[in-house]
Amino acid sequence: MHDQATRMRSIARAYGEGTRTARPYVLTVTSGKGGVGKSTVALNVGLTLSMMGKKVLLFDADGNLAGLDVMAGVVPRFRLGDVLRGERDLESVLVALAPGLHLLPGSSGEPHYPLLQGEQQATLLEELLNREQRSDVLIIDTAAGLTPEIIRYGEEADSVLVVTTPEPTAVMDAYAMIKVLGLSAPGQMVDLVINSVRSMREGEETVTKLRAAIRHFLGRDVQCAAIVPADPRVSEAIRRQQPLVLSYPRSAAALSLQSLAHALLNDHVQGSLKRMVAL
Ligand SMILES: Nc1ncnc2c1ncn2[C@@H]1O[C@H](COP(=O)(O)OP(=O)(O)OP(=O)(O)O)[C@@H](O)[C@H]1O
Ligand SMILES: [Mg+2]
Repeated sequence: MHDQATRMRSIARAYGEGTRTARPYVLTVTSGKGGVGKSTVALNVGLTLSMMGKKVLLFDADGNLAGLDVMAGVVPRFRLGDVLRGERDLESVLVALAPGLHLLPGSSGEPHYPLLQGEQQATLLEELLNREQRSDVLIIDTAAGLTPEIIRYGEEADSVLVVTTPEPTAVMDAYAMIKVLGLSAPGQMVDLVINSVRSMREGEETVTKLRAAIRHFLGRDVQCAAIVPADPRVSEAIRRQQPLVLSYPRSAAALSLQSLAHALLNDHVQGSLKRMVAL
């Protein structure tokens, strides 16, 4: 697995060498625990970046229970599964969500869904990085968990956002994700997103505890990129099937996600896009 990961990393890096702008910046949004807000973050940060004039490709990498299309209110005719089965080419399954924003829809509940094996995953990533219609940013919204497939999306990214809520179970799982990722990709840039906080204080306490554990047990430091308030508008936006930053742009959670997108562009967080891409 390590060899596979090394090969994939060198493929990915190859696009950046010499021509720093030749490949998109890869931002992986992941978590240990499920349901903590990865897709909410990925969709709304992606949309905000596109509204700021960047070309964004959003990849729903949740292999079994994809949902970004539902959140965005589109009904894709084809999905990643069709590409993996060799029935469609990548470009033909992409769905335009907004000017400058495309979605690669994942598959959901498909019988015999072709699970991404290492080779297949490497080939797909290669294709995503090497599209003729180049994107500035590729955002990978993963499933929850610590499976090799999910970890690999973290390894291959330029930087990773690990999302958690303040709930101790989610925090423990975020810690586990950072630990596992640190073992397979030492030095990978990781920023935290604390989502669904009832108060800023709760968010800050969560950051303090998690950072202390990471420092103490893993000997490294991570930064917090955003603390996103618990906001009923998030759920309302999903029910309306319209991204939060469009349906409730002035809501507390939308403002926080917009400023996360700005921070990513403007070098205010570790995994800043500016470090890799001349955007
Ligand atoms: N800031 C928030 N305030 C209130 N509710 C939220 C917030 N963020 C997410 N939620 C709610 O949490 C649920 C899960 O969100 P989301 O689908 O983004 O999580 P996920 O991590 O992508 O889940 P999965 O692991 O299943 O992919 C949704 O019902 C959403 O409404
Ligand atoms: Mg999700």
